[in-house]
Amino acid sequence: MERLVSNWYNHRPLPESYICPPETRPGKLSIPSGDTIPVVSLGEALINRSNTILNVLRASQEFGFFQVVNHGVSEKVLNDTMNVVEEFFKMPMEEKASLYSEDPNKVCRLYTSNINYGTEKYHFWRDILKHHCHPLDDCIKLWPQKPTRYRDVIRTFSVEGKKLGLTILELLTEGLGLESGYFKEDLSEAMLLVANHYPPCPDPSLTLGLPKHCDPNLITILLQGHTFGLQVFKDGQWIGVQPLPNALVVNIGHQLRIVSNNKLKSAEHRAVTNSKVARTTVGLFISSSEDSIIEPAKSLTNAAQPPLYRAFRYKEFLSYYFSMMGDTELALQPFKLPFNQSVIS
Ligand code: OGA
Ligand code: NI
Repeated sequence: MERLVSNWYNHRPLPESYICPPETRPGKLSIPSGDTIPVVSLGEALINRSNTILNVLRASQEFGFFQVVNHGVSEKVLNDTMNVVEEFFKMPMEEKASLYSEDPNKVCRLYTSNINYGTEKYHFWRDILKHHCHPLDDCIKLWPQKPTRYRDVIRTFSVEGKKLGLTILELLTEGLGLESGYFKEDLSEAMLLVANHYPPCPDPSLTLGLPKHCDPNLITILLQGHTFGLQVFKDGQWIGVQPLPNALVVNIGHQLRIVSNNKLKSAEHRAVTNSKVARTTVGLFISSSEDSIIEPAKSLTNAAQPPLYRAFRYKEFLSYYFSMMGDTELALQPFKLPFNQSVIS
């Protein structure tokens, strides 16, 4: 519990154990928080569905990232969610102590840094609240009891966010030319909520809130609030994801890249810190159930475009992914088909 950054950061210089090796440091942070990550208005889908599909598809092919506006999740739901999560992190330590755990298998837990504080070479400037959202009626009983509104607010956000995620998945399904409902039932039923809290940092140039990674799941919906911090790696450069009012950030995870047989991109991203204000983000990670079989969709492969990955169970992928944290291509390696390895690695 003492390890949580929010517990000790105030008025202290950056501890040495938080300094990244020079090659991964964010450096001067002069990177523009440019507007190059596409912004897609989903409201338009009702009027011009094919155009919306094209926009979502292009962004997923080129960036693996986009923001959505007019997405149907109300401003009130977004504000309530951000407020209740910020309130959670602001509560005194005693109120949160029962949720703190260093056991990665605990289904609702508060922890710090990254996957394994005990074994990592250096730490990250981040505290995390993580819990399952499916099956909702079972999980909700394990969610934080304080703030008292937490369960109600997050239930609504998770239901609406999931609906939005499935809508986007269906647009991509159509765009790729897959049969409608490809991701139905177990292929998209699971969901995790990860709330990240990055306190103000004494030296943002030397440390990271979250290291470079790709998400392991199908698709992620992130409420990033008003504060800049998320960066996407594209063509050898870090691009900032501009905070936009009432927008949600969407990114493609490894499973969707695999099912699409590399037609969609799972982009590397990271979070940098800032010295002025705390930044809080709330992510919904939609995934297949752990026993689902994942493989490149049959309708996207043929003799000219052979499958680039073998079939596997999602849980097999997850355990390998977490053991390879930090190296996103290596995490995919055992799932690539040997015939193609030299071509795509
Ligand atoms: C994540 C993530 C980005 C952010 O939780 O996987 O990429 O800005 N978060 O918090
Ligand atoms: Ni991520």
